[in-house]
Amino acid sequence: MLKPDAVENGHIGAILEKITGAGFKIVAMKYTQLSKRDAEAFYSVHNERPFFGELVTFMTRGPIVAAILEKDNAVEDFRALIGSTNPAEAAEGTIRKLFAKDIGENAVHGSDSDENAAIEGAFHFAGREIY
Ligand code: RTP
Ligand code: MG
Repeated sequence: MLKPDAVENGHIGAILEKITGAGFKIVAMKYTQLSKRDAEAFYSVHNERPFFGELVTFMTRGPIVAAILEKDNAVEDFRALIGSTNPAEAAEGTIRKLFAKDIGENAVHGSDSDENAAIEGAFHFAGREIY
């Protein structure tokens, strides 16, 4: 996902350019907005964390871009491309270093395993929307 801050700041095009330039193929994509229920479900793994309420408020405050990306070693390579959760700790040239403000508003989401990528892809897309 390109998170609401990335959309608000006009970074959709630049971030997609970095993603496709790094060799990821977009197999599904949509412009949408998460409801509170959606965001709570999507990030349910964090529902006991102190930042959960803030995360849900942030993720629902405006539209996002959801996408499914395909590449060999996609999970690991995408996380390398986006950089650390906290942009202050992210490597130079990473998407979060370039476009994120802080640990909460950090521009992009990446799946953390192939298993979660499949679950998260199915959360956003019907089978007929995946090419
Ligand atoms: P994501 O799931 O969004 O790709 O991010 P991540 O794996 O790098 O980080 P994760 O630990 O899964 O945290 C999910 C999102 O919660 C927000 N967060 N806020 N205020 C805080 O201390 C804090 N910590 C995490 C961020 O939006 C983070 O990406
Ligand atoms: Mg995560």
